[in-house]
Amino acid sequence: MNIKSQKTQQLNKKTSALCAFVFENSKEPLGIPKLPTKLDAAVKQSIKESQGKFESISIIHTHQLIAAEKLIIAGLGKKQKTTTDSIRMVAGKIAQKVRELKLADFTIIVPEDLQFNVNQTVSAIVEGAEMSMYSFDKYKKEKKEGKAPDLTLVISHSVDDVILKAKKIAESVNYTRDIANLPPNECSPAQLAGFAKSLAAKNNLKCTVLSKSELKQKGFGGISAVGQGSKNEPKLIILEYCKGKRQDKPVVVVGKAVTFDTGGISIKPSEKMDEMKFDKCGGCTVLGIMKAASDLKLPVNLVGIIPSVENMPGGESYRPGDVVRLFGGKTAEILNTDAEGRVILADALAYGIKLYQPSEIMDFATLTGACIVALGANVAGLISNNKRIAEKLKNSSARTSEQIWQLPIDDDFMDMIKSDVADIKNIGVGRAAGTITAAAFLANAVGNTPWVHFDIAGTAWIQTGSKPKSYNPKGATGFGVRLILDYLSN
Ligand code: BES
Ligand code: MN
Ligand code: ZN
Repeated sequence: MNIKSQKTQQLNKKTSALCAFVFENSKEPLGIPKLPTKLDAAVKQSIKESQGKFESISIIHTHQLIAAEKLIIAGLGKKQKTTTDSIRMVAGKIAQKVRELKLADFTIIVPEDLQFNVNQTVSAIVEGAEMSMYSFDKYKKEKKEGKAPDLTLVISHSVDDVILKAKKIAESVNYTRDIANLPPNECSPAQLAGFAKSLAAKNNLKCTVLSKSELKQKGFGGISAVGQGSKNEPKLIILEYCKGKRQDKPVVVVGKAVTFDTGGISIKPSEKMDEMKFDKCGGCTVLGIMKAASDLKLPVNLVGIIPSVENMPGGESYRPGDVVRLFGGKTAEILNTDAEGRVILADALAYGIKLYQPSEIMDFATLTGACIVALGANVAGLISNNKRIAEKLKNSSARTSEQIWQLPIDDDFMDMIKSDVADIKNIGVGRAAGTITAAAFLANAVGNTPWVHFDIAGTAWIQTGSKPKSYNPKGATGFGVRLILDYLSN
């Protein structure tokens, strides 16, 4: 989507649709120039009808009274309840309406005196518009949606850098979605590594991919075990971006990429098993973070690590009862092959810490169904051993509206994954605290390194219980990219 800005909107300036916001129970759209009397009456009438209700869209034909073909008035809902996220959602609604009307362009008047910084309003509009235009139609002959319309923002000061930044981040979210939405027959670990390589080539990143034999030989017992049941061999994908100071320790982001999770020998029920193509979403989020950081030339050292496997049942599969030796030497008793995410992540986290001695390590994973039971489909679980970083991330969460909620972790939880035969086991005690016991398994791999774990089982794709948002169309959401880009930028 092309997006630019201009300082004012003269009524003789051509645009297919001039768009403005209106609050609930207000009579005036925000920031609209004085209209010819007839048109003004039509606008007032439509506001009377829509009452400025949240996400209401009114279209008014201008009959050439002004140069804009149409006026679009979009309801923001109650003024006191307006947030950057409501702007993001309403901007997405406007863009979708404009596309539905097959208009080539639209102009949005930015409301400049809301209760938050106007640059945040601009970012929210850009993100909402760009992300709402996303649709995954790679496999459809008839592409449902046409080309995204061009957008002009009307705002009194120059915001080109703000627009560019928000646009690049939103595009990285859409890029994350494009890979995450791929069906499992078109996105094996090797194919995912291929996408990482093309990203690296385009964005000047260093990319290393470890093969099945290298993983075995270097001591990645977890990834090797989970991956051994599939003819699609496991890979460990590593991306490096170094635009920070030479002496700065890097931030390492790790993402679970199970390209399909059948559960393995502890096989899942078939209902909704197709959704386990989304079990690679954590890894895709890492790809999106690496893309956005490098597109924006952020002055940081950043490493992305993606353990990727397909979790399949078969004659070669790992089994309940197996004991595997994780990277770093700890042993893990496998009691359920469907608790595979923690097993591959433990390897990747330990490796990231050993190789890069990061200032902090974060991981993204569709790790537990229990997280959806606890927090639903709109809030990700956050577990950390570092207060300061967790607080910073909560601020980023508030700014981006990528919601997170912290769960506790302490020695009592670590005790719940003690094994009779190995150092740890890959399930907890019954169903108790399933999200935390999964994180406790990971905590064994990170030791004292500042660490943050995101359980994105509920938020990584649109599922039962997901709150409908214009900018989150069906399929993968790209959750985490905006959150971490905010964190890295601040
Ligand atoms: N990928 C799943 C978690 C999941 C399930 C995410 C449903 C989103 C929706 C993970 O590998 C898994 O199967 N976890 C098990 C762990 C259990 C066996 C301890 C789970 O949550 O049931
Ligand atoms: Mn599983
Ligand atoms: Zn899984």
